[in-house]
Amino acid sequence: MAWDLVETASVPDGELTLYRQGEIYMIRANGYELMNGLGHQSELALGRMAVEVAKTASPHILIGGLGLGYTLAAVSDALGGSGHITVAELSPQVIAWFDRYVAATVLPRRPDGLSILPGDIGALMRHDDFGPFDVIVLDVDNGPEALVSPGNAALYSAEGLRAFAAKLSPHGVILLWSAFEAPDFVSRAEGAGFAVSAQTLAAVRRPDLLHYAYVLTPRF
Ligand SMILES: C[S@@+](CC[C@H](N)C(=O)[O-])C[C@H]1O[C@@H](n2cnc3c(N)ncnc32)[C@H](O)[C@@H]1O
Repeated sequence: MAWDLVETASVPDGELTLYRQGEIYMIRANGYELMNGLGHQSELALGRMAVEVAKTASPHILIGGLGLGYTLAAVSDALGGSGHITVAELSPQVIAWFDRYVAATVLPRRPDGLSILPGDIGALMRHDDFGPFDVIVLDVDNGPEALVSPGNAALYSAEGLRAFAAKLSPHGVILLWSAFEAPDFVSRAEGAGFAVSAQTLAAVRRPDLLHYAYVLTPRF
């Protein structure tokens, strides 16, 4: 079945495009597939994992970014009404797309207290009154390399990772979704003072493809 173009949105130095096949949506970033509703098992697994790794029964979980909202839906489901969810999404149009087209099927019941903030998650890290979070879930590119916006490269630098760590509550962790193994990123994160482990996530449409969740625990 062919994808129908729905809308296009600008992001800094790039473009996001929304497509649909019936009730299933796909987002491309600068022509590359960023999120496809036909294969969202690993995004759901990431959301469940965020609740599992939280060290408190009522955690505050920050998700960046929204995409099609599958990770948000899984976090919401796993929390079962406890805790608190904040989402940071670079593109206000993606938030509008979610509200207008996607939420009805992906997140039909919006959790109480959900905040979806427009903006760059890196810039939000510099706000004094932002956080703390028990878990920060990062799924803004296809892994720890800039895809959506060149500025995203800073998120995965030692300095960027330490900025996330500064917004964690004691015993908080960072989870990062990746479509590929990223040994250079692991070395950089370890060099920046994190203990890093990786978990493979449920395969997508192709059983030969694995996705990864990197778990970063500050050792400082
Ligand atoms: C791969 S999608 C997220 C998929 C999501 N986990 C899901 O379940 O649908 C990446 C999202 O991150 C957003 N994004 C990219 N860079 C960002 C940034 N610096 N800050 C916040 N959101 C960002 C994109 O606009 C896009 O909506």
